[in-house]
Amino acid sequence: MENWLLANTQVSLRPIVRTDFDAFWQLGSCNYNVVRWLTGAPWPPQRENVEAFFAQISPAPYPQAPMRRAIVVDGAFAGTIELALPGDLEDYPHLPTIGYWLGEPFWGKGFASRAVRLILQQAFAIEGVGTVAARAFQENAGSLNVLSKAGFKIVGACKRYSKARGETVACHVLIVTHDDFLKQLDLKDANHFER
Ligand SMILES: CC(C)(COP(=O)(O)OP(=O)(O)OC[C@H]1O[C@@H](n2cnc3c(N)ncnc32)[C@H](O)[C@@H]1OP(=O)(O)O)[C@@H](O)C(=O)NCCC(=O)NCCS
Repeated sequence: MENWLLANTQVSLRPIVRTDFDAFWQLGSCNYNVVRWLTGAPWPPQRENVEAFFAQISPAPYPQAPMRRAIVVDGAFAGTIELALPGDLEDYPHLPTIGYWLGEPFWGKGFASRAVRLILQQAFAIEGVGTVAARAFQENAGSLNVLSKAGFKIVGACKRYSKARGETVACHVLIVTHDDFLKQLDLKDANHFER
């Protein structure tokens, strides 16, 4: 895609709605290239798993419920991103974590970086949220680059079970402060993690 066209592509976040189910299923659940990087998605895909995800979506604002959003590219559902409630990180039990996936046709165009910036802007606008965490498989170079571009820094490690892979995977734990996020917004080409 030409750069000028990409620059004019709209990336936005909105609540996930029932009519996103089919796109979620096709772009996410049914693509091993996506679910192999996630922890909770099974392989082969199970509709009940996705039904359970949709059933849990709540209109309540964060922190009464996780902030779960559809990533929308020029009006089309492209993936999801969430700000999960604190409590899941051994060393940072007070920090919320972000998690996300994008359908493969949308990769490599800067859309995940834009979606992460959007959810962080919303997260840091919430009273009491000054730092946000994330976890990524250590070999997930794409996601680590996305996080680095938003100002995240690696602060630890953990192991997580990946349902799709059926194994435990080594992960980086990363955090970003509001200040680091704002500083990073000013930088054009952010540093990448060394692989
Ligand atoms: C990881 C993922 C979100 C990246 O989405 P994306 O929209 O392609 O990412 P971006 O285009 O914003 O890329 C950001 C940077 O990372 C780089 N990058 C993206 N994918 C990469 C990869 N597989 N390997 C190395 N670098 C990669 C891009 O080149 C870009 O660098 P640049 O700004 O210098 O050009 C997407 O591939 C995905 O959904 N993967 C499956 C699910 C997943 O991994 N979720 C995250 C779990 S922690």
